[in-house]
Amino acid sequence: MNKTKLFINENKERFLDELMALLRIPSVSADSSFSKNVENCAEVLSQNLISIGLSNVKVYPTMGHPIVYGEKIIDPSLPTILVYGHYDVQPADPLELWDSDPFDPVIKPTDIHPEGAIFARGSCDDKGQMFMHVKAVEAMIDSEELPCNVKLMIEGEEEVGSANLGEFVKNQKDLLKADIILVSDTGMLANDTPSITTGLRGLSYVEVELTGPNRDLHSGLYGGCVANPINILCDMISSLQDENGKITIPGFYDQVLTLSQEERTEMAKAPFSNDEYCKALDIDETKGELGFSTMERGSIRPTLDVNGIWGGYTGEGAKTVIPSKAYAKISMRLVPNQDPIQITQVFSSHFESIAPKGVRVVVTPYHGGEPAVTPVDSIGYKAASEAYEKSFGKKPIPIRSGGSIPIVAMFEKELGLKTVLMGFGLDSDAIHSPNEHYGVFNYYKGIETIPYFYESFTKLST
Ligand code: BES
Ligand code: MN
Ligand code: MN
Repeated sequence: MNKTKLFINENKERFLDELMALLRIPSVSADSSFSKNVENCAEVLSQNLISIGLSNVKVYPTMGHPIVYGEKIIDPSLPTILVYGHYDVQPADPLELWDSDPFDPVIKPTDIHPEGAIFARGSCDDKGQMFMHVKAVEAMIDSEELPCNVKLMIEGEEEVGSANLGEFVKNQKDLLKADIILVSDTGMLANDTPSITTGLRGLSYVEVELTGPNRDLHSGLYGGCVANPINILCDMISSLQDENGKITIPGFYDQVLTLSQEERTEMAKAPFSNDEYCKALDIDETKGELGFSTMERGSIRPTLDVNGIWGGYTGEGAKTVIPSKAYAKISMRLVPNQDPIQITQVFSSHFESIAPKGVRVVVTPYHGGEPAVTPVDSIGYKAASEAYEKSFGKKPIPIRSGGSIPIVAMFEKELGLKTVLMGFGLDSDAIHSPNEHYGVFNYYKGIETIPYFYESFTKLST
């Protein structure tokens, strides 16, 4: 991979400029007023795939946002790597909390990224990380050092639950035939502590609606006499966790796979400081399920969190009112072997059962996704480990992540393929938050590491 490395070094500036151009397209998948930009982003990306020498490049329309595909088949008898990523981004809101325009990237140094970080929505999640693959493949093709076949599939709906990608994968099994799936859409521990994500949590996401009286009421005339849906909703939500941080929904933990003491001891070896964690978030103390460390709570244990809660009067000043309705959005992060459909069911029936007389409850399920794990003794993991070792000079640590990429479990089910998660982001990169950024170091390090994966994976599987 010597020529590849040289090519990367000679084209660093351009690689960065091209990413910046991609970041200027506001491809927000959740908001339909951005859909022209989402389509445009797919188009620009596909042009880039053509320009680096991929064949069969196509923008596949879906019921939602399009999927961009391209491939380079050098020899059908060689292994094939299928790269997955997403070009859609989360909404940038709240805009007033950004120090610069979320869609006009700027490079600024930070404490953690002294060599500079790119500030823009999607810089880390996932345009920056996805584009590392495009540039790494370009470098290998141009240097004539691509050791195997590669297929790239970049979707535009990951941030809204990948609703149409599952269908595409089911219908395009031939097109997507491969030996491994490679994804950079996760993080690592620190720039001097490389790690590989070996697990993702699943997700069950619901909205609940409580209805009390048939109209908003004067809180003086009716207060104290009728059930206030917001008060009731608060009671109901707080009863979902006990004083030990255990979720009280019957059946919730039934399928949870617990880790052996050895596995937990192994996990605890990863460098982690609870104090620094608190300091970074400006909190006095961490909080969670009794008997588990912060790292465990955030990765190998299931959780339940309110993501939003509203109802009644929230405008300026005071309005004395008992609302007719109250709402909340609730997410449950799931671990192996919890089934999102079953969890949504036990949630719904429990939540309906604890509602007192005087309110009516409707639970609406949103997207979900299954958890996933990558075994450390697989060829894919070994190849990734060798690749990090070459570029970082250190053996990476296996880490289970708390986030979700629902399509990973789908890949396994539909294509029978395991996914290797080579993420280069940091938790402090503020993905989904204002001032999202991605280290310039991380961007280049990713581009440098990826070709080593190709080399090792090809060697290990032939
Ligand atoms: N890239 C993230 C997931 C992620 C980030 C996993 C960091 C591990 C480490 C992805 O884009 C994402 O945000 N997923 C959503 C789920 C989706 C269904 C909206 C999530 O985890 O909330
Ligand atoms: Mn992502
Ligand atoms: Mn995301």
